[in-house]
Amino acid sequence: MEITWTVDGELFVLAVEPRVTVLDALREYLGVNSVKKGCDHGQCGACTALVDGRRVLTCLSLAVQCDGAEITTAAGLGERPVARAFVEHDGFQCGYCTPGQVCSAVGMLDEAARGWPSHVTEDVAADVDGLSDDEIRERMSGNLCRCGAYVNIVAAIREVAERASRAGEGAR
Ligand code: FES
Ligand code: FES
Repeated sequence: MEITWTVDGELFVLAVEPRVTVLDALREYLGVNSVKKGCDHGQCGACTALVDGRRVLTCLSLAVQCDGAEITTAAGLGERPVARAFVEHDGFQCGYCTPGQVCSAVGMLDEAARGWPSHVTEDVAADVDGLSDDEIRERMSGNLCRCGAYVNIVAAIREVAERASRAGEGAR
């Protein structure tokens, strides 16, 4: 089946079999290596990308379901505040987990800005007003690091969330 994607601003037309995942199509068909294959089972978050603005696990998504999608990988987020905050707070980890962490951080800040509650939100009916460290950790809990070296990621995300809150706009 022929599908069309925009990946990090570049237009691609590709022919894929129905069983091919977004992750494999990106890496193997298009040579886009900024999404990583960790577990290939939806458990580590290394393959996280933004599909039409929402974070998805690309190892669990079929390419043919995303015809016409706009896909953003970590490579397309280099100038975004989240990526800069990761640098400033020394939040970058290894090349394997970090791309997924950055995409997931952008996605979860947007989810919070839309008022979507998380598992630890105390009042799910209230607006999400600011992100506590517990909220950040919970919303990032799908992205694992085998080394347990997350210490500066929370600070990086907190700074972006606070800056956006002060500016009265959605974080990211
Ligand atoms: S590779 Fe997709 S969640 Fe691990
Ligand atoms: S630093 Fe990437 S998996 Fe631990």
